[in-house]
Amino acid sequence: MERIRLLPMELPSATSINNGNNTSNSNNRGRTSFIRRLGLGCIVLAALGLLYVPAYHSAQGPAFGIGETSSPAGSSGDSHFLASVAQLPGWTFNTSRNLHLYIHPENNTSILSPNELCTPLPYLLIIVCSAVANERARSAIRNTWASEENLHYDAETNIKVAFLLGQSDNDTLNASIMEENYEYGDIIQEKFHDTYNNLTLKSVMMLKWVTTNCPHATYLMKTDDDMYINVEGLVKALKLRPHIKGSLIGSLICNARPISDPKNKWYTPKYMFSEKIYPNYLSGTGYVMSLDVASKLYHAALETPLLHLEDVYITGLCARNAKLRPINHPGFSYVPRKLDYCVLKSAITAHKVNSSVMYSIWNKLKETNVTCTTASTDKKAVKLNRRGRNVGYYLVKKRSNSRCT
Ligand SMILES: *[C@@H]1O[C@H](CO)[C@@H](O)[C@H](O)[C@H]1NC(C)=O
Ligand SMILES: *[C@@H]1O[C@H](CO)[C@@H](O)[C@H](O)[C@H]1NC(C)=O
Ligand SMILES: *[C@@H]1O[C@H](CO)[C@@H](O)[C@H](O)[C@H]1NC(C)=O
Ligand SMILES: *[C@@H]1O[C@H](CO)[C@@H](O)[C@H](O)[C@H]1NC(C)=O
Ligand SMILES: *[C@@H]1O[C@H](CO)[C@@H](O)[C@H](O)[C@H]1NC(C)=O
Ligand SMILES: *[C@@H]1O[C@H](CO)[C@@H](O)[C@H](O)[C@H]1NC(C)=O
Ligand SMILES: *[C@@H]1O[C@H](CO)[C@@H](O)[C@H](O)[C@H]1NC(C)=O
Ligand SMILES: *[C@@H]1O[C@H](CO)[C@@H](O)[C@H](O)[C@H]1NC(C)=O
Repeated sequence: MERIRLLPMELPSATSINNGNNTSNSNNRGRTSFIRRLGLGCIVLAALGLLYVPAYHSAQGPAFGIGETSSPAGSSGDSHFLASVAQLPGWTFNTSRNLHLYIHPENNTSILSPNELCTPLPYLLIIVCSAVANERARSAIRNTWASEENLHYDAETNIKVAFLLGQSDNDTLNASIMEENYEYGDIIQEKFHDTYNNLTLKSVMMLKWVTTNCPHATYLMKTDDDMYINVEGLVKALKLRPHIKGSLIGSLICNARPISDPKNKWYTPKYMFSEKIYPNYLSGTGYVMSLDVASKLYHAALETPLLHLEDVYITGLCARNAKLRPINHPGFSYVPRKLDYCVLKSAITAHKVNSSVMYSIWNKLKETNVTCTTASTDKKAVKLNRRGRNVGYYLVKKRSNSRCT
């Protein structure tokens, strides 16, 4: 772990070297310093390559700060330099981040809008943000945790699941979405270009759709199509809460830092976010809010410049602007769960679930011959929790665990 901590310190210099050939950036550092940095950078990159790959791949959900530091020694010049070079695809320095331009709050932007979703009024509406092409994932969810039998509770506890998509420019896919919706009637499609860097628009469209079409529901959950949701466990947890209003719960991530490496999936240029640390936020893999919170977050979003990291943006930046505090619940986690009955039974969310794992979990939970002891909790998830709060992934360590409130 100590060694891994070197990584974020070294990457900014490595990347500035990559881009350094065609600039005058090094004029105040000198040629020898540049070459030394180049050599050091190569060695460090080679040495850390193996460490870096697992760290990268074990990161869950958009944007948590994989311990990326803004390394006080010497990065401010570099990041300023990067800001002018490494543009975020789709969100260049020039692109407006005013949500009004994309969300069109005054207009109906729904292409598909299933009207049975909100009658009778749902106690819990689960919106699964899905990519247009992920038909298999949607199908696995429909056949497992979102199946009719699994959503059946008492009369006051109506639970609905719907998928939220944007638009694809592929006419074949476009047509198959129409067909899929014709068959299942559970697809909300909104007018925006459905891409990875547009996930924030998807989440804000979710808030728009729900506050417009379903304002009297009790709870809204946002999740993704690679998640298993233990609906029974979730409902149990929600019913235990003393207050409904003001709820914003999930897996809390504290003191995460923007990643300044342009090659990283969660790269955030300074022009998108200039603070050193993200506000505390909930992992985008699954978070739940009451409808009053959904409405406040939606209105805050219209006044908050877009950040492409959906979870940091909605549950961090917009929540802060709306004076809402995201709260950790230990059942939510962004780590994959062990395929173990007791682990799964006690969890609310499980991440990195592809369609075959989805069925495995579903079948696992059908076993009736298991008795769980208190010892059989998800150790991996517990390890990431300090005093009931996630402090981020293992790269965000010690120095950052004290101020997680
Ligand atoms: C930003 O806008 C200016 C003028 O509108 C244009 O010349 C420049 O190429 C744009 N830069 C990028 C990165 O889009
Ligand atoms: C929104 O609706 C108004 C009134 O119907 C219309 O004038 C305007 O062009 C619409 N805007 C968009 C972006 O569709
Ligand atoms: C918005 O438009 C869609 C598609 O035409 C329609 O199904 C839906 O009912 C409309 N929603 C509202 C609130 O008017
Ligand atoms: C559109 O999507 C279909 C189905 O995924 C794929 O086979 C086809 O190649 C895509 N077409 C284009 C132009 O990308
Ligand atoms: C694709 O989507 C657009 C926008 O909703 C729609 O106008 C068009 O008819 C769709 N194409 C197909 C083949 O369904
Ligand atoms: C995001 O969606 C908007 C609206 O559809 C579109 O103009 C823009 O190109 C998209 N950006 C990306 C990064 O896909
Ligand atoms: C699903 O994930 C499991 C474990 O993560 C992997 O072994 C399997 O190959 C994946 N299946 C598909 C179809 O991607
Ligand atoms: C429980 O039953 C399943 C089949 O339903 C079996 O595969 C599993 O090994 C059993 N587990 C225990 C602990 O007996």
